[in-house]
Amino acid sequence: MKIIKTIQELVEWRSQCEFPVDLVPTMGALHEGHLSLCEALQSKVLPNEKRYLVLSIYINPKQFNNSNDLDNYPVSMNDDIKLCEEQGVDVVFMPNNSDMYTADASVMISETQLSVNLCGAKRPGHFDGVCLVVSKLFNLVRPSRVAFGKKDFQQIAIIQKLIKDLSYPIELVAVETKRELDGLAMSSRNRRLLKEQRAKAPLIYATLQAAKNDNLSSTEELDIKTINHNLEQVFSPLEFKVDYLTIVHADTLQPCSSKNSQALLVLACFMGEIRLIDSIKLFDE
Ligand code: PAJ
Repeated sequence: MKIIKTIQELVEWRSQCEFPVDLVPTMGALHEGHLSLCEALQSKVLPNEKRYLVLSIYINPKQFNNSNDLDNYPVSMNDDIKLCEEQGVDVVFMPNNSDMYTADASVMISETQLSVNLCGAKRPGHFDGVCLVVSKLFNLVRPSRVAFGKKDFQQIAIIQKLIKDLSYPIELVAVETKRELDGLAMSSRNRRLLKEQRAKAPLIYATLQAAKNDNLSSTEELDIKTINHNLEQVFSPLEFKVDYLTIVHADTLQPCSSKNSQALLVLACFMGEIRLIDSIKLFDE
């Protein structure tokens, strides 16, 4: 496995690379969710085909609207490198800030429809930063396949649109959310939860599941008010704070009140200062 730390070195490697390249962009503190993205790409490689798998690790300052969140973002470089090696990653790209963003950098990339609501509204500038760094990674690595996680349901919809609107010749592989045994969606930020918070965190997904079951057996229309009320009942005694809770169409991210196979119940909440997101498809296809 090769570790590349500068853009120059990456460009040189890429120009000499005679095989197609797959890419998994990450911010590190790797967990099984990240590895499942690698697996999804590796499982698509045909028996006699040769491709390279690149995993990038870069805590992108431009996508953090909260400096405290950025300063406390978990870092575990040595473990990450070991996991990549075990996973059969070919290249780990881990640039530093001054290499990724020169002091006079002034170009931004904004998605202007899907980014408006939900995390986009709650974290101003976040998706501009994501679009910028992902575009840079696409330009440098020139992958033909990339994998993103459905856990970040808004990010994946926006990246799909970025690929389409900027005509990147890239196939996006969308990967299901990997969960802990107790149902908590894996996230690098879970490492920051205090013991008591971690013990309660599985309630997030349990509540989403309960809401899904209620909706299946009840009315024709999706009843977000009742879901919201039930969720508040569970959350407020536990000092969870709901940031948003709503039902959207998975592709358009528009509010969705009818029973639709793409209806997604989405939730962002705070446990203390840690912001977690999760979602559940309300109807199985
Ligand atoms: P990060 O949070 O490190 O996530 C990297 C990728 O892993 C994303 O595509 C995310 O959706 C996916 N992922 C995270 N948790 C997952 C889980 N439990 N199951 C499946 N996939 C999961 O998302 C980012 O970094 C950044 O915004 C990035 C795209 C790298 C741009 O900086």
